[in-house]
Amino acid sequence: MAWLGKISLRRFLFALLFAAAAALAARLWTHGSLKAPEAGLIGAAAVLAVLLARNDLSPLTVLCRMADDLAQGRNKSRIREILPGEYGRLAQSLNRLAERIDNDFSRLRRLDEMRRDFVANVSHELRTPLAAIKAFSETLSSGALAERETAEEFIREIEKSADRMSRLVDDLLELSALESGQRPGARESVSLMRAAAEVVAALMPLAQKKQIVLRLDPFPDMPDILADKGQMKQVFTNLIDNAIKFTGDKGLVQVRAELRDGRETVFIQDSGCGIPAEDLPRIFERFYRVDKARSREMGGTGLGLAIVKHIVEGHGGSVSVESRFGEGTTFRVEFPAPLP
Ligand SMILES: Nc1ncnc2c1ncn2[C@@H]1O[C@H](COP(=O)(O)OP(=O)(O)OP(=O)(O)O)[C@@H](O)[C@H]1O
Ligand SMILES: [Mg+2]
Repeated sequence: MAWLGKISLRRFLFALLFAAAAALAARLWTHGSLKAPEAGLIGAAAVLAVLLARNDLSPLTVLCRMADDLAQGRNKSRIREILPGEYGRLAQSLNRLAERIDNDFSRLRRLDEMRRDFVANVSHELRTPLAAIKAFSETLSSGALAERETAEEFIREIEKSADRMSRLVDDLLELSALESGQRPGARESVSLMRAAAEVVAALMPLAQKKQIVLRLDPFPDMPDILADKGQMKQVFTNLIDNAIKFTGDKGLVQVRAELRDGRETVFIQDSGCGIPAEDLPRIFERFYRVDKARSREMGGTGLGLAIVKHIVEGHGGSVSVESRFGEGTTFRVEFPAPLP
């Protein structure tokens, strides 16, 4: 009986039901009518045939198909059939594996996109000052050197562009060192009040130039935290520099702090231009700027907040922002207070 091969019971029942349904349909054709129980039988046979046909694949076939799908990179494929015993467990494992591969692929795709964006951004940021340097030096060498005043102005522009490029490179190196964990930073006893006061003093001339009131409210009595002082000052410098930069003449920039629920929080608040709600979720991304042209004009590269976020999170803290467009912005940096 080898010619019979392996008969599947399911297939056999399916064929039987199909034959019964066909016989009843033939009767309908010849007699022109069916009694109600016969019509019901046709319906039931058809439904049962469909159900049996649907589950016709053997568990091993289902599993092999899934393995094939995975091998071909069809990571969205899943086993929907309910398989018995060990087959069922294997099916679940394959589904989980597919889910993981799918997630890993999406993550890799996102990382690749970020890498491409990053390279495009860096090239773009470098191209602008480089083009300026090239244009000014060409004009100088083709005769402008003779006019002293113009020459001096062009040289100042070249210097400005070179400064921009070197700031960009410095910021990129800083960010890459922070990201790779190459420079974990010192851990010394740091008073946030003192670090903020030093930065406020250093940036005071910048504020005065715009007649901005830069105010440091005395912090409550807060214990020192274990941190890298240089990096803490960098955080305050980037945030207070932004606050001054994005606040109009005669505005107010205020630095204050509170100690609550075991967290030391510093607020940097300004009465500046504010940030539109749709930009808020993205401003900590590298190179993200609300107004690229305006920020670039002011010498910004859009890396300041990305650096802040890395440093703060590297210290177990968090940074957040609240802003009303046209009214002002408050950045909030918080760290866990050391246990007594
Ligand atoms: N206090 C603020 N008020 C209004 N907008 C702000 C403020 N701080 C940041 N922003 C917005 O977030 C963007 C990103 O800030 P970030 O500090 O990363 O870059 P930048 O200041 O433009 O350049 P860089 O810090 O490299 O000099 C800014 O371009 C600006 O659009
Ligand atoms: Mg900045």
